Amino acid sequence: MEYERVTGKRYRVLHPRPAYVLIVGKWGGDDRGIMAASWVMPLSEEPERLVVAWDKETHSLSILRKTGVFTVNVVGPELTDLVWRVGSVSGWEVDKFREYGIEVEQARSNGGMVLKGALGWVEARVFRIVEDLAEDVDLVIADVVDAYARRDLYDPRYGWRASKAGILLHASGRAFFTPGRMVFAEK
Ligand SMILES: Cc1cc2nc3c(=O)[nH]c(=O)nc-3n(C[C@H](O)[C@H](O)[C@H](O)COP(=O)(O)O)c2cc1C
Repeated sequence: MEYERVTGKRYRVLHPRPAYVLIVGKWGGDDRGIMAASWVMPLSEEPERLVVAWDKETHSLSILRKTGVFTVNVVGPELTDLVWRVGSVSGWEVDKFREYGIEVEQARSNGGMVLKGALGWVEARVFRIVEDLAEDVDLVIADVVDAYARRDLYDPRYGWRASKAGILLHASGRAFFTPGRMVFAEK
C-alpha cells in the first residue's frame, strides 16, 4: 500500500466530520449568533459535557461570552446551503438570521434557541472557556443540559438512523458528505 504524505491542512485527514449549526444566545434576546461547526465532540459522560473548538474572532463566540448558552443543531443534506452560508459569512457583517430567513424555536431547557427544521439538537450551557491553547481557537467546554432527536430518525439503541437521516458531514470547503449504510463490527 502506498501512502501520500499530507502537508498543510492536516486536520482534513480527520474529516469528514458532522457539520452542525450552532445557535448562540437566549430566546427572545437581542444578542444572538449562528455559525457552522464541525470541530464539536462529546467530552465526558460524568457529567455530560461537550467541547467545541471555537474561532476566537467569531461573532458567535462574543455572544456566547455574554449569554452562556447555545445549541448544537444536527442537520441533513437539505440544509447544506444554509450550513455553508452561516459558516462562511460572519455576524459581524450581516444579520444572518434576517438575511437568510433563518427561523428559530425556543429550546426546551437551556433558555436558548434551536434551528427550525433540524433533525435534532443538544442544548448546552458554558462550563468553561479555555483560552491560550491556540492562537486561532478557544476551547468551549459546555454542560449538556438536554437533547432531542426526531423520533422517526433516531433509534434509542443505535442512535441516528444515519443512512435515512443523512446527517450532514463536512469534507472541506463547499464539499459535504451524507452517510450511506450502517455496518456492524464483529462480536
Ligand atoms: C462546515 C463548516 C464547519 C465549520 N466548523 C467550525 C468549527 O468547528 N469551529 C469554528 O470556530 N468555526 C467553524 N466554521 C467556521 C464558522 O462557521 C465561520 O467562521 C462563521 O462565519 C462564524 O460566524 P460568526 O462570526 O457569525 O460567528 C465552520 C464553517 C463551515 C462551513
